Amino acid sequence: METPTSQRAKITVPAIRSRKGSGRPVVALTAYDFPTARALDEAGVDILLVGDSLGMVVLGHANTLPVTLEAMLHHTAAVSRAKPAALVVADMPFLSYHVSREETIRNAGRLVQEARAEAVKIEGGRARAGVLRAIVEADIPVMGHIGLTPQAVHAMGGFKVQGKTPEAVQGLLDDVHALEDAGAFCIVLEGMPGEVARLMTRATALPTIGIGAGPFCDGQILVVHDLLGMTEGATPRFVRRYANLRSETVAAAREYVADVVSGRFPGAAESYAPATAEALGSAPSAEREPGEDDR
Ligand code: KIV
Repeated sequence: METPTSQRAKITVPAIRSRKGSGRPVVALTAYDFPTARALDEAGVDILLVGDSLGMVVLGHANTLPVTLEAMLHHTAAVSRAKPAALVVADMPFLSYHVSREETIRNAGRLVQEARAEAVKIEGGRARAGVLRAIVEADIPVMGHIGLTPQAVHAMGGFKVQGKTPEAVQGLLDDVHALEDAGAFCIVLEGMPGEVARLMTRATALPTIGIGAGPFCDGQILVVHDLLGMTEGATPRFVRRYANLRSETVAAAREYVADVVSGRFPGAAESYAPATAEALGSAPSAEREPGEDDR
């Protein structure tokens, strides 16, 4: 286990499990890069999920299906290098746990061994219980994910709220029990009515972590770009925006453009001290690159 650079004690898988019924909700956010992971960890987040939402909010895809294992390895490694106190969980992307148990374990193992993930997440309920158990038997902790599972976007006919009929609710209950039996350490409940998520939360000894699943889960997770207001257009109903970084970024970049065009940037304060005539000597010395000590 990496030694965290923050003052907080390292959050472990057993620590997350023990949150159930403790009165302290699990607080999770997605992270895809080093500086964001550092900032979220400093803020006291319990779990940093390197979600395959990466494909949509960072890589510009319409859904999560094009995300590759290589991309997940790349971004998970960047988050792990932040050495957060928070637990680092990596999403297994589409097709990385669907082909065979052997391939699944190898892919989960690469996320742990090469990218330093401390757990992985897979989407799906009963249909995935077998591979989930296989990963757990390889000593890799697994977070489950049921309800609106974005990798099943085509099967669901879009990003649709789940659990709207008695049969669907029973199916979700069966999923929760299957994932618990298979050895998951917690379960993400996505896109379902709050009362349905409450039922799921009461039906399991595992902590449930909700997104678009109301207030009755044992914890909450959001996509960090949504929370920070970095996405374009309308946000889903379940998102609360705590900042507007996209409009701040546009405003800041606009000012920079105007300053460069008008010659206001760089000014004297952003320039190195003028060289003396002696130091200048012959012309080439004035063309040198600034060294470390000049910054
Ligand atoms: O990919 C992701 O970010 C997720 C969370 C929204 C749970 O799966």
